[in-house]
Amino acid sequence: MKVGIFETSEEASRVGAEQIISLLEKKPGATLGVATGSTPDGLYAYLRAAYKEGRFTLADSKAFALDEYVGIDPDHPEAYRNVLRRQLVGFTGLTEENLHTPNGQAADPDAAAAEYDQSIKDAGGVDLQILGIGADGHVGFNEPGISLASRTHRDALAPQTIRDNARFFDDNEAKVPRACLTQGIGTIMEARQLLLLAFGENKAEAVKQLVEGAISSRWPATILQAHPSVTVLVDEAAASKLELVDLYRARWDLD
Ligand code: F6R
Repeated sequence: MKVGIFETSEEASRVGAEQIISLLEKKPGATLGVATGSTPDGLYAYLRAAYKEGRFTLADSKAFALDEYVGIDPDHPEAYRNVLRRQLVGFTGLTEENLHTPNGQAADPDAAAAEYDQSIKDAGGVDLQILGIGADGHVGFNEPGISLASRTHRDALAPQTIRDNARFFDDNEAKVPRACLTQGIGTIMEARQLLLLAFGENKAEAVKQLVEGAISSRWPATILQAHPSVTVLVDEAAASKLELVDLYRARWDLD
């Protein structure tokens, strides 16, 4: 795991976006896994600007969302498919048909989850998965206690996640969907590269556990320690509880 610590989230987002652009230079048409939430906003903005400058295109790429709320109106602006449309479709060359999101409307969520895993396999797997992290250590919506080998599945959102996401729903917890379809931890771990971003003090404990904690489903993101290619990009606030900062900076500077 490589940990990059930056003064600002803008700087970290730029570094993350450049990693994606250089992957696309080496492998045009690479498949991306895409996160929603606030964390990747800066990274997506940077990608949109770089696309405008003609530096890359996702025209030949597929993108697979990490998750989708179950039961949300498909026209709701916070349905993750709509969030990703606004962030990426058209503005990065990504086409509507190449944007894949779990079907949160499915009458049979288990079948929809299995189909989603299969569609990732059929696409040849994810080359680079963008991740945020929940304050409770979730990646995707794999909440504490989930199997670290889970496949795409339906899950309940943790109370902490409902509180955290109320800001997208008029600050009203009652409006936050209670369930989601999420890529499983096992699914996420099959991506060839993982790129996790985390900003702000409220992520500091989750980042500490992610980087320095024991692997445990209490903090699901800790399993990322077992992946051979993980880059973690954080600002100083999110890094504030890390013990071995000097080592991480030295390792980062080796490249
Ligand atoms: C989003 C997702 C979540 C978020 C996490 C952090 O697709 O799967 O794991 O990355 O909840 O959310 P923000 O970025 O809003 O703090």
